[in-house]
Amino acid sequence: MIVFEDVTYSYPAADVPALDRVSVALAHGSWTAVVGANGSGKSTLARLANGLLLPSAGRVLVDGMDTADEGHAWEVRSSVGLVLQNPDNQIVGTVVEEDVAFGPENLGVPREELRLRVDGALAAVGLTGLERREPHLLSEGQKQRLAIAGALAMKPGCLVLDEPTAMLDVEGRGEVLAVLAELRSAGTAIIDITHDLAEALCAQRVIALDHGRVAYDGPVPELLANEGVMCSLGLEPPPLFRLAAALRARGFAIAEARSAEDVVEALWPS
Ligand SMILES: Nc1ncnc2c1ncn2[C@@H]1O[C@H](COP(=O)(O)OP(=O)(O)OP(=O)(O)O)[C@@H](O)[C@H]1O
Ligand SMILES: [Mg+2]
Repeated sequence: MIVFEDVTYSYPAADVPALDRVSVALAHGSWTAVVGANGSGKSTLARLANGLLLPSAGRVLVDGMDTADEGHAWEVRSSVGLVLQNPDNQIVGTVVEEDVAFGPENLGVPREELRLRVDGALAAVGLTGLERREPHLLSEGQKQRLAIAGALAMKPGCLVLDEPTAMLDVEGRGEVLAVLAELRSAGTAIIDITHDLAEALCAQRVIALDHGRVAYDGPVPELLANEGVMCSLGLEPPPLFRLAAALRARGFAIAEARSAEDVVEALWPS
């Protein structure tokens, strides 16, 4: 569980805070999407979640531990895995397995356990067989999954991903989202920062940031249906959602439009 209590964060020499009195609680086993315009504070929120940044005011608690408490720094870092916006910035090993081992090795995990963790993390992201590959030879999708494996090897209760699919094609994106769905069903909390509202529909909850403040916090379909908030945040619903809304206005009973099949089923029930 990650709790933000009235958190404000200002970068040095900045006139306005990047995050402004944010209070949210993120539970274990949940999938939360974080959306918002460029510069709204999403990456700042991610870095505060695992103690990479410390609040200027307020506090962040990870499983009850204050991230500002130096005594808990390693525990906090291993409880909350952070996957950065650009995976190249996160790759440290010369081969895949070394890269994944880096975090737990620093935690002092013994050899045999380390092997199990590396193999488990690579299997979870579908990179088994590429242990000796040099990371720079991987595709972008594989690099992103390698970054996720590195975070997973720490056995985090929560995974914060900063735009994990932004640089990926449809297939790479599908691969990463499938990995996240599996992790979540195994109990890991997912916090997915994204500009893609179709991706946000994978989450039960979405937090929308606007100039460092929480502008919306609730179910994804309600946000998509709330034209006022969507408009003020500069967000556009996914095409499928707009199609369903237009069909609803013509009298078709479409409860949900998460997939093309939902729409087809409403038009031509099988
Ligand atoms: N290292 C920094 N020094 C000073 N200001 C920063 C720094 N990093 C971010 N900011 C500022 O803090 C605010 C929030 O930035 P942040 O990176 O959290 O936004 P974001 O929502 O992740 O944006 P994007 O969608 O572009 O990734 C912005 O106004 C940004 O200019
Ligand atoms: Mg960002």
